[in-house]
Amino acid sequence: MNGNVIELRGLQKSYPPREPGGARTELFRALDLEVGRGEFVAVEGQSGTGKSSLLHILGGLDREYAGEVKILGRDLRGLDDPELSALRHAQIGFVFQSFNLLSSLSALENVLLPDFFGDGVPDAHARASEALATVGLSDKASARPTALSGGERQRVAIARALVAKPPLLLADEPTGNLDARTGQGIIDLFQRLHREGMTLLVVTHEKRMSRAASRVLVLERGELAADPTLEGSA
Ligand SMILES: Nc1ncnc2c1ncn2[C@@H]1O[C@H](COP(=O)(O)OP(=O)(O)OP(=O)(O)O)[C@@H](O)[C@H]1O
Ligand SMILES: [Mg+2]
Repeated sequence: MNGNVIELRGLQKSYPPREPGGARTELFRALDLEVGRGEFVAVEGQSGTGKSSLLHILGGLDREYAGEVKILGRDLRGLDDPELSALRHAQIGFVFQSFNLLSSLSALENVLLPDFFGDGVPDAHARASEALATVGLSDKASARPTALSGGERQRVAIARALVAKPPLLLADEPTGNLDARTGQGIIDLFQRLHREGMTLLVVTHEKRMSRAASRVLVLERGELAADPTLEGSA
């Protein structure tokens, strides 16, 4: 395997018409992307260009596509469902655009969730507490999502994505709807994870996030191009 954590070759993605006789939504015809180990890539692009769709494919959550998608050298098409789940569980942290927290569970239990679907990790509780501490939420471990602010919920979602200490983090607008200071806390956290060697691909509309990244791409008309207005500083 080469040093790439993400490799896309000729990715094609379209959605079927929502109603009979409607048009397909064509997102990508031949998308290529390589992300090397330890890169922090920001992906910008207007609403509806397919950023979330791309992230779902990279995270193994959507298998309806053509082309080659390799994560850590493994072609996702070659994996059966249990193998794909295992890869997702151990190697990929995923922060959804909508946080996907379960309202009946506490913050700590939400962070613990991936381990319920895993191998029954013995130190799961300690790891979940550590992940909550990482995002500065130790004091809210027993709170339910309905009792948390938007920024706190987003941080719980990030803690959940980090609990397995995955080498790759995929995050979909993790600072969307947050005030500037809370958003900055998440940007700082991502920079720290980047320094610690994690590979990050973050969909964002936030210029501060893009400035923190080592590379900025813009998704437009089915193509990924370098951002002409911004060069990563990290
Ligand atoms: N399951 C689906 N079936 C049909 N069309 C879909 C489906 N999911 C998304 N789309 C369409 O695909 C396009 C891309 O959606 P996507 O959510 O990937 O965009 P996005 O770039 O993440 O947008 P935003 O910035 O608003 O989050 C949109 O036109 C959307 O309506
Ligand atoms: Mg989106």
